[in-house]
Amino acid sequence: MQDFRPRDSWTSRIGVILAVTGSAVGLGNFLRFPGLAAKYGGGAFMVAYLCAFLLLGLPIAFAEWSMGRYGGRHGFNSSPGIYRLVWKSRIAPYFGILAMIVPVCIYMYYVYIEAWCLAYSARYLFGRMDFGADPSGYERFFAQFVGIHAHGESLSTPGEGLLGSAVFFLILCFVLNFTLIYRGLSKGIEWFCRWAMPALVVCGLLVLIRVLTLGTPDPAKPDQNILNGLGYMWNPVKPGTTFWQELANAEMWMAAAGQIFFSLSVGFGIIITYASYVKKDDDIALSCLTACAGNEFCEVALGGLITVPAAFVFLGPQVVQNPPGTFGLGFMALPHVFSQMPLGNVVGFLFFFLLFLSAVTSSLSMLQPAVAFLEEGLGLHRKASVALLGFITALGSTGVVFFSKDLLALDTLDFWIGTFCLYALAAFQTILFGWVLGAKSGMAELRRGAEIHIPESLRYVIQYVTPVYLFVVFGFWLRQNIFAAGAEGQPNRLRQLVTDPVAAAVMIFVAAVAVLFGLFIAQAVRNWRRAEAAAEEVAI
Ligand code: PFF
Repeated sequence: MQDFRPRDSWTSRIGVILAVTGSAVGLGNFLRFPGLAAKYGGGAFMVAYLCAFLLLGLPIAFAEWSMGRYGGRHGFNSSPGIYRLVWKSRIAPYFGILAMIVPVCIYMYYVYIEAWCLAYSARYLFGRMDFGADPSGYERFFAQFVGIHAHGESLSTPGEGLLGSAVFFLILCFVLNFTLIYRGLSKGIEWFCRWAMPALVVCGLLVLIRVLTLGTPDPAKPDQNILNGLGYMWNPVKPGTTFWQELANAEMWMAAAGQIFFSLSVGFGIIITYASYVKKDDDIALSCLTACAGNEFCEVALGGLITVPAAFVFLGPQVVQNPPGTFGLGFMALPHVFSQMPLGNVVGFLFFFLLFLSAVTSSLSMLQPAVAFLEEGLGLHRKASVALLGFITALGSTGVVFFSKDLLALDTLDFWIGTFCLYALAAFQTILFGWVLGAKSGMAELRRGAEIHIPESLRYVIQYVTPVYLFVVFGFWLRQNIFAAGAEGQPNRLRQLVTDPVAAAVMIFVAAVAVLFGLFIAQAVRNWRRAEAAAEEVAI
């Protein structure tokens, strides 16, 4: 008879808090957030961001922590198992397909960016990141390194990315991630987060001190000083607009909501799995708040004060506003900035090393839910489940690298999995907690063992405000990106699936992984039923 009880657990409360914070703090904090805040105008964006944090992020995080601990108490660590426990319906566990493919598919491209961070920090360490005063040197290096197309030069054809030096670092990252996952929850994830999280905060503070003491590096350009850099990022109103005009921008509200999900790692089903390993009366309310606060510190105080102000001071507002491509600010503009900064090599190393550490603690959290499911649902041993997941993700990452031209595979996965499926999964979990488990029972679960006071109003927020907010944002997003797409130079994502072979191939692969997990879940349900029937017989 298979043993379905949790096999692994956190060794301490600080361990789980650091692991959840580690999942949350990642590239989203240091690269994605500053870009969005600068794009939409710091102050106005922060209003939308704060609303999304209080009405979407925090309530769904509470819901995931509560359902996770509840599931763990009943012997389940995986989302399919916990969904089935909470919702006694035959289809409930199959929503777990989403909770498996969202983190696993995000891992396939996230780990590639993680590899760039490792490579950049290694190059800084060995003093091999100076490409002169001309920005094009940094852009060309990045394009060649990653195997993308830059500035109209056809630098890459499909498959060329596989020959790039980024692949070496990608393999290193794969080995590191899977070794840690193989070592298990406490000896792998918790152990790594325990030293990586403090280390990355120290690196971040050192870089921050350097950036805030930059003053006016070029006396010929007195406006490009650090105070103006901070103002550029944070002033509530951009020249030529009003605060209210900026606040009326629906796209900004969607971006803020998306950022909250991505940054806090909520809605992915990851926190459910992590929280399922806590002790049965651990104070999850406080742990949840601590992890969210830790993430916001890294996002707003470190991410928000480093990247954009530094780029502003050396490169001016034009580059910050129109960085060269999605990853332009981090991987092209900042190395250019560091090359002009006193102690730039040290700062460059610290910055990319901190990015790398934060990415590892996040990518580990994308793998654990699937490993937990394979072990608990199919009864696989750790070695087998790690090997199977390693094979699936290696195939996916190879695809991402193979189609690195214009980063199309990465972009397709980010759109359909990292945004569309994420919204769908977050909506499902919100309804599951607020309406199926019931906000009242859910709140009782959250309050058990909690030393802090949880206001009753949270119940109504979770039951009414969060779902309505989520559905409105999701509706707007669908309208803009799916139904009315194709305008303003945006690709029509649905048509792209038919006309673009790369996007089609990526989604066929995702569908195959989804079918595979669907079959695994069907088998897991049979196993669970058998175990439950046997337990009943013993009880009789
Ligand atoms: N929260 C991470 C970040 O801010 O970079 C990203 C992330 C982690 C996304 C875990 C998805 C996930 F499952």
